[in-house]
Amino acid sequence: MMKHLNGKTVIVTGGTRGIGRAISLALAECGANVYALYARNRKNAETIEKEAEKRGLNIRTIRGDLAHEESYQQVLGQLEEVCNHIDILVHSAASGVHRNSMELSDRQLKWTFEINFFAVHRLTRDLVGKMGKGSRIIGITSPGGTRVIPSYAAVGSTKGALEALFRHYAFELAPLGIGVNLVSPGLVMTDAAEALPELGKMLNMTLDYTPSGKLTTPDDVAMLVKFLTTDAASQIIGQTIVIDGGKTLLA
Ligand SMILES: NC(=O)c1ccc[n+]([C@@H]2O[C@H](COP(=O)([O-])OP(=O)(O)OC[C@H]3O[C@@H](n4cnc5c(N)ncnc54)[C@H](OP(=O)(O)O)[C@@H]3O)[C@@H](O)[C@H]2O)c1
Repeated sequence: MMKHLNGKTVIVTGGTRGIGRAISLALAECGANVYALYARNRKNAETIEKEAEKRGLNIRTIRGDLAHEESYQQVLGQLEEVCNHIDILVHSAASGVHRNSMELSDRQLKWTFEINFFAVHRLTRDLVGKMGKGSRIIGITSPGGTRVIPSYAAVGSTKGALEALFRHYAFELAPLGIGVNLVSPGLVMTDAAEALPELGKMLNMTLDYTPSGKLTTPDDVAMLVKFLTTDAASQIIGQTIVIDGGKTLLA
């Protein structure tokens, strides 16, 4: 059966776990050859490869810390070897230190920026030459990019910077036929969410203030990303699309 990403090449950073994992599977379901990148957790990488094999999907994993120069160059080398052309680049990998702003050291802030901001830019800049008309770059930001989430000063700052950077990507790359957008999910229960301080409190507040009455799931986010890869989304350029059951509607 003809699917809209048949024969297309997709790269998903952080593609073996959480939201990125759901995106890798959803895009592979659409016929894509997916390269799911991850830092160090081999078990999750093996699990998604096994699941893909069972379901007849094409997902290969590539290991490497994108925030570490030498490791980054190795990942880039592998990608350059296997991909002549890239159709979809999804940046889902992120990490960060959870502290109040006045407790953040330079080192912690720089480390968080290395993975959430600089690695995104390096990879985009190094791969954009392989992208052309009809291709897409999709980033994942968070409500913390524009608002306060307790203890989220470091990650929130990287997301705010990412949103600014993506506006420029969108403006500069649209004339080349490359569509750039960001997706901004509300709280999604992943390993990263589990690491949030006061998760219980946040979870209750999120549910209390979400008009749809339910949490956003990795699959919800993956379906939105999938839509952004279709022809129907070709005129959506430079947007941050919120997917949170309506939570951010409330003042
Ligand atoms: N969960 C939420 O509530 C939520 C809400 C809004 C936005 N987001 C955003 O959604 C995206 C995905 O979040 P998630 O919750 O799915 O995260 P997650 O479950 O923690 O997964 C993070 C992924 O990124 C990879 N990664 C982390 N540091 C890396 C590095 N230095 N180099 C290469 N890969 C690295 C991890 O690889 P390993 O498995 O090897 O560690 C893993 O595959 C992030 O951009 C996050 O900020 C999440």
